[in-house]
Amino acid sequence: MRLAILLSGRGSNFAAIHGAIARGVLDAEIVAVISNRPQAPGIAHARELGLPATILDHKKFASRAAHEDAVLRVLADAKPDYIALAGYMRLLSARFIAAYPNQILNIHPSLLPAFPGLDAQAQAVAYGVKVSGCTVHFVDENLDAGPIIVQRPVEVRDDDTGDTLAARIIVEEHAAYADALVRLATKPYRIEGRRVIFQ
Ligand code: GRF
Repeated sequence: MRLAILLSGRGSNFAAIHGAIARGVLDAEIVAVISNRPQAPGIAHARELGLPATILDHKKFASRAAHEDAVLRVLADAKPDYIALAGYMRLLSARFIAAYPNQILNIHPSLLPAFPGLDAQAQAVAYGVKVSGCTVHFVDENLDAGPIIVQRPVEVRDDDTGDTLAARIIVEEHAAYADALVRLATKPYRIEGRRVIFQ
């Protein structure tokens, strides 16, 4: 599996995916790591690991489309089978998604379809749900909405804040992202409507 990673920040999900590859759990090669933020710790980490790392600062492009074109050019050279969004804080256009149909994955820190968008963990605490978690899903044109590949639950405690819940969800995120990629790499599957069905 040739894998590209898009990130904007800390990059702990990227590190978890890289760790799964290094441990031999996931048979994949990271062919590109792209950050839209020059200061993202994740891109510095990718460089330290000797991976092909590219910074494409969206603020330096005249338009959203021009920035996306630059990202698409790097991806075209890298030829990934899958693109994993790992804390990538940019919305992808329909044109971008159409270039990689059902090949772009995202991880979101809630049990979708509950709590899409920003601050999902704080949204869960404020709503009063007793269980939240994380979701790895294919990316479609809607925010945090495509077909679901893997979910992992996390109990919400009475004394949780968004931050304490996030600290427990992120542990499950790391396992879930590796699990989703291992499944895609090793099991035949088909997508029927919203359902990802593994054989
Ligand atoms: C994670 O909580 C992920 O679910 C969300 O952004 C955060 C990224 O964290 N999409 P990291 O950069 O992978 O550490």
